[in-house]
Amino acid sequence: MPALHDTSDAGLSIQWPLPPHDPEESPNGQAVRLGVMASGNGSNFEALVTACREGRLHGEVSLLVVNKPQCGALQRAERLGVPCLLLDHRLHDSRESLDHALITAFRQVRADLVVMAGWMRIVTPTLIAAFPNRLVNIHPSLLPSFRGIDAVGQALAAGVTLSGCSVHLVSEEVDAGRILVQAAVPVLASDSRERLAARIQRQEHRLLPLGVRLAARALGIEGQ
Ligand code: GRF
Repeated sequence: MPALHDTSDAGLSIQWPLPPHDPEESPNGQAVRLGVMASGNGSNFEALVTACREGRLHGEVSLLVVNKPQCGALQRAERLGVPCLLLDHRLHDSRESLDHALITAFRQVRADLVVMAGWMRIVTPTLIAAFPNRLVNIHPSLLPSFRGIDAVGQALAAGVTLSGCSVHLVSEEVDAGRILVQAAVPVLASDSRERLAARIQRQEHRLLPLGVRLAARALGIEGQ
């Protein structure tokens, strides 16, 4: 069944709308210090860096942690001049051990919020407890639909005509924490997984900085 929606940005729907960040709003305000975790291409990491540098997010990416030596996120960090740390999961004998290393790294840079931007590892309650209400994830579906891996493939297989992406707080149940903000994206009859994933990613890059602002505002960080 064909989707009835167009492919423009008009498909974006946002809960808890916030006005665009006004740099004059809090000129002396505290910038949010962000730690970012990524395993892959890193386009969401770069979207956060860009939002900070363009003034759409009153923050700074203080540290990127990657778990794969050759990943695109690491190369982006080098190009963008963002401090980057490799914590190779293969050198850790447990998830706990890796998460302890993450906690140490993000505490060292005094991260206010930690953003999982394509972190392809399950995190432990230890990491979640270290950053209560401060650990944010982005997922390529309209949660609570299509949790877990291959959310885009799951959406296509289910035949939905509307999918999207969600920014949410991380809880112990995978992809089930409090939703901060979502964007709806139409699914077209002609969509391949790659085409739908690309359309969703365009919205992710807009949504993630907004989700981070919402998380920071809920904690009373932004604009203090
Ligand atoms: C995104 O689609 C995100 O929703 C998911 O992993 C992907 C990461 O993409 N968690 P990128 O590495 O940021 O390009």
